[in-house]
Amino acid sequence: MNRICQLFKIDYPIVQGGMVWCSGWRLAAAVSNAGGLGLLGAGSMHPDVLREHIRKCKAATNKPFGVNVPLMYPEIESVMNLLVEEGVKIVFTSAGNPKAWTGFLKERGIIVAHVVSSSKFAVKCEEAGVDAIVAEGFEAGGHNGREETTTLCLIPAVRKATSLPLLAAGGIGTGEALLAVQALGAEGAQIGTRFALTKESSAHENFKQLCLNLNEGDTKLLLKKLSPTRLIKGDFMTAVEAAEARGASVEELRELLGRGRAKKGLFEGDMKEGELEIGQIASLFHQIQSVDEVMSEIVTAYNQALKAINN
Ligand SMILES: Cc1cc2nc3c(=O)[nH]c(=O)nc-3n(C[C@H](O)[C@H](O)[C@H](O)COP(=O)(O)O)c2cc1C
Repeated sequence: MNRICQLFKIDYPIVQGGMVWCSGWRLAAAVSNAGGLGLLGAGSMHPDVLREHIRKCKAATNKPFGVNVPLMYPEIESVMNLLVEEGVKIVFTSAGNPKAWTGFLKERGIIVAHVVSSSKFAVKCEEAGVDAIVAEGFEAGGHNGREETTTLCLIPAVRKATSLPLLAAGGIGTGEALLAVQALGAEGAQIGTRFALTKESSAHENFKQLCLNLNEGDTKLLLKKLSPTRLIKGDFMTAVEAAEARGASVEELRELLGRGRAKKGLFEGDMKEGELEIGQIASLFHQIQSVDEVMSEIVTAYNQALKAINN
């Protein structure tokens, strides 16, 4: 049994990444019930909504599950207190300094993992006392590192920089890819995109269908001045590209982005006005599947690939 499975008490070293507007209790509970680790995405939930999702998730699974908290969350203090009150046992933090909340959570007996996009930040995680690191490469959906380090380059570098249990993220959606990142030194994978496109994901059907019809090259990392985000080709991305080409300032980009655009795209299905985020790996998948189907495909493909390589 590897360290990731031991740490989180799961059957397979597969974590479903927290994803704004996609990962509510249905998705997280389904992944946990299938032997992985499901995470609720607190980034798109007000505290009262998060509390409800935690309670529903507890009712829907007796397996371990966790909560992802992006640290730039405006109501961060009330969220952290709420996690303690609700007895959440695993927290994945991201988008911020791992030193900010790790001590608070660990003192209360909570297992902490933090997401990084460079080995420099992996070292900070170790100093902060986290239990595990997620190293996320340039291919990933959602927000991303400015340096554009790909998963293939990032994982061996992070493996060298730290001896902590390590999950790879970014561009992993199959059993073959899970095996590949294990060869690079990770012990498991955090998967976002593939789970965002499952039946149990709370993303809008329009968004899922758009993603399932993407080709290679249909996403691009933009908004680097603001917060680097992998966007899908379309009206909003064209507007962002045009603004960036004319050298738009941070303020101009912030104004263009406005408020609530990710909700509009991912949750309400507005493919024109919405901000649409997904990972490069989306172009590999063309049908909506259940979490059970995805998990069993990944595990089967992993075992077959391992056997084929051994042969
Ligand atoms: C739609 C979407 C929303 C995301 N939202 C978050 C988030 O709120 N917090 C976070 O830490 N990561 C977020 N991510 C990143 C995922 O948790 C995960 O690390 C990433 O998707 C892995 O790469 P992949 O997309 O290639 O599987 C998001 C990803 C996607 C696709």
